[in-house]
Amino acid sequence: MIREQETTVRFHVWGSPELSEERVRLIRLDNDGMTYAMAVTEEGYLLHVYYGKRCGEDDLTYLLHLEEGNYVPRHHKREKGGFMDSRPFEYPCHGIGDYREPCFMILDGDGMSSCDLRYKSHRIVQGKPALTEKGVSVIPATFAGSEEAETLIVTMEDSHAGLLVELNYSIFRNLNVMTRSAKVYNRGYRDTRVQRVLSACVEFPSDRYDMVTLNGSWARERGVCRAPLHGGVQAVDSRRGISSAQHNPFAAICAKNADEDHGEVFGFNLVYSGNFLAETEVNDKRQARFVMGINPYDFSWLLKPEEEFTAPEVVMVYSEEGFGGMSRTFHDLYRNHLIRGYWKDRERPVLINNWEATYFNFDQDKLYAIAEQASKLGIEMLVMDDGWFGHRDFDDSSLGDWHVYEKKLAGGLKPLVDRVNALGMKFGIWFEPEMVSEDSELYRAHPEWAIQIIGRELTQMRAQYVLDYSNAEVRDYVYGMLRNILDSANIEYVKWDMNRALTEVGSTTLPAKRQRELWHRYVLGVYDLMNRLTTDYPKLLLENCSSGGGRFDPAMLYFSPQIWTSDDTDAIERLKIQYGTSFCYPASAMGAHVSDCPNHLVGRTVPFETRGDVALVGTFGYELDVTRISEEDRNQIPGQVERFHRFNPLIRKGDHYRIGNPFESSEYDAWAFVSKDKNEALFTFVRILGAANMPPVNVKLKGLDPKKRYLCEQTGQVLSGSTLMNCGLNIGTRGDFMSKQYYFRVAEEA
Ligand code: DGJ
Repeated sequence: MIREQETTVRFHVWGSPELSEERVRLIRLDNDGMTYAMAVTEEGYLLHVYYGKRCGEDDLTYLLHLEEGNYVPRHHKREKGGFMDSRPFEYPCHGIGDYREPCFMILDGDGMSSCDLRYKSHRIVQGKPALTEKGVSVIPATFAGSEEAETLIVTMEDSHAGLLVELNYSIFRNLNVMTRSAKVYNRGYRDTRVQRVLSACVEFPSDRYDMVTLNGSWARERGVCRAPLHGGVQAVDSRRGISSAQHNPFAAICAKNADEDHGEVFGFNLVYSGNFLAETEVNDKRQARFVMGINPYDFSWLLKPEEEFTAPEVVMVYSEEGFGGMSRTFHDLYRNHLIRGYWKDRERPVLINNWEATYFNFDQDKLYAIAEQASKLGIEMLVMDDGWFGHRDFDDSSLGDWHVYEKKLAGGLKPLVDRVNALGMKFGIWFEPEMVSEDSELYRAHPEWAIQIIGRELTQMRAQYVLDYSNAEVRDYVYGMLRNILDSANIEYVKWDMNRALTEVGSTTLPAKRQRELWHRYVLGVYDLMNRLTTDYPKLLLENCSSGGGRFDPAMLYFSPQIWTSDDTDAIERLKIQYGTSFCYPASAMGAHVSDCPNHLVGRTVPFETRGDVALVGTFGYELDVTRISEEDRNQIPGQVERFHRFNPLIRKGDHYRIGNPFESSEYDAWAFVSKDKNEALFTFVRILGAANMPPVNVKLKGLDPKKRYLCEQTGQVLSGSTLMNCGLNIGTRGDFMSKQYYFRVAEEA
């Protein structure tokens, strides 16, 4: 519900015995769980009033402190200079006395960088409009119908520069979610450069919070890091052109006492796949300002008269049930209001991917042998990974030459795909469409299509360059090649990989004054191609990947319902990676496979059963040569596949409760998926390191109905939800890396 109210605020002015008055307009957005409120002052400043748990039907403007700071002259009028640097602005600008991190910064036609956005008008619409420019949807965003969300659009104006900025706030009815974005219009008669256009700012009244971010590296993505707010700036960002394995476009500001199950958490996730910034600044008055959006670093966008620029969306989740509550809200939102298309609510096929099985060393017969064996075990799809095109025998050639490598696949794809289909299996294929190898026909024909700075040495990473996706000709050409392949056989799945960051970021086609737009134009180009692919092939199952989870962000989920979580397939390392990933992203989106041991990356050997139990938390599959593993391991596969089919509806649609924390303890990890009606639950326990002479591990379940009684299929015990959650389960295991799974269903109603 979005409402407004005119009210009078009284405040002290320095040196005056009398109270001053100001008429303000309060705008508040409420749902059952939360309230967000802002106020427009007489001068047109849009100030933040409150964000948090739903509050009463009161006039909240008493929370505004309209008096000046300490150093103000003795006159009875409030002076801007004493006011700006500590006001909680909804969308702070640069250059007018607020010295903290701004959301918006320009270079106007005179080369001036100051900007003063003031409230002009607002409107309220039912539902949630797409993020458009000139009426065309340009950037992924969550969606909601008129019954599900309501949107406030506040128009701000800087009349000096001739700019309008629309601030969008959508509040969801049944989820503690608000989304924010900003859109700039040049309504002046001169060119303006937008130097910084962040999507959201939230002002917290004090610094008594912690900040949580998801940091890592290749094969160690999304580790949970928590640090107290402190004076100055605390930030994570990406400057790599992708959202990155190093920092996820996520941050949470949480109460000091917030933990997994309790306390206030404010989660923020940017629906964007390129350079981002998430930053908190604590000022001299110990107020905390959080901002998020496209990274202003090396960004500059020329906005000509009548042009528009749309900044991506920040998803804001409010939880009073700690990080667990925050995650479950993100999961519900992404499953229902972000992921789209044919596979949105469908169980995904159990796949076998040949990457770790063969790397580049395969041919049709080898792949067929894997598929044949896999089909007997119940596996449903063969995915042919890197190495099937050009003359690619190693990672140093052929990207961009998307035609079949006849030496490996004589006669093209169709013979192999037909044979695989005849086994009753689907067939999927790997592409890396954004790349070109130096050793490729494409690069030889079109070296100018690589992102580059003419005259500078081009940096290679994995012997490859990044294609300039700001250039529509490049995109059209690549898409033509993809289509040829996809139309040549019955291909039902694509793994879209992206294996290097951007360097020497320049385009051979953009004019000098638009070169700094390339970072963002590149991302928009990727979205354009993914959009075409998913529109033209609506039943295609698209899985995103970027050297594992280097681009695991909500914008990618808009196109692909699943993303390869990490190249680290070791089940014990995966505990941390999947734990961190689950902070925002649902299990239905996490690509997780059982791979061979000793693990190719970390050299660890983990029981096959544990590998299966850990991979079951994602979109399940195998990444090994099923013809070469031991008989004992192979014999476990049919049972694992059966368990996947049995439990996937619960895992895909249920509520995820993290119970252990592998970042805090090497004793064990545990989690549960509980159905929405709380009638069933799957509880998984993984012993990390064993210890001698210790009592049995006792683990308390979460998320059950305390009043319902549950039958445990494995033990035959019937216990109430309250007992299981308060007294816990005793779990006896011996040996490192052992896992156990327990399935509970309601035995009888109390
Ligand atoms: C990186 C991916 O994460 C791997 O799964 C695999 O597809 C390789 N690229 C192939 O080059």
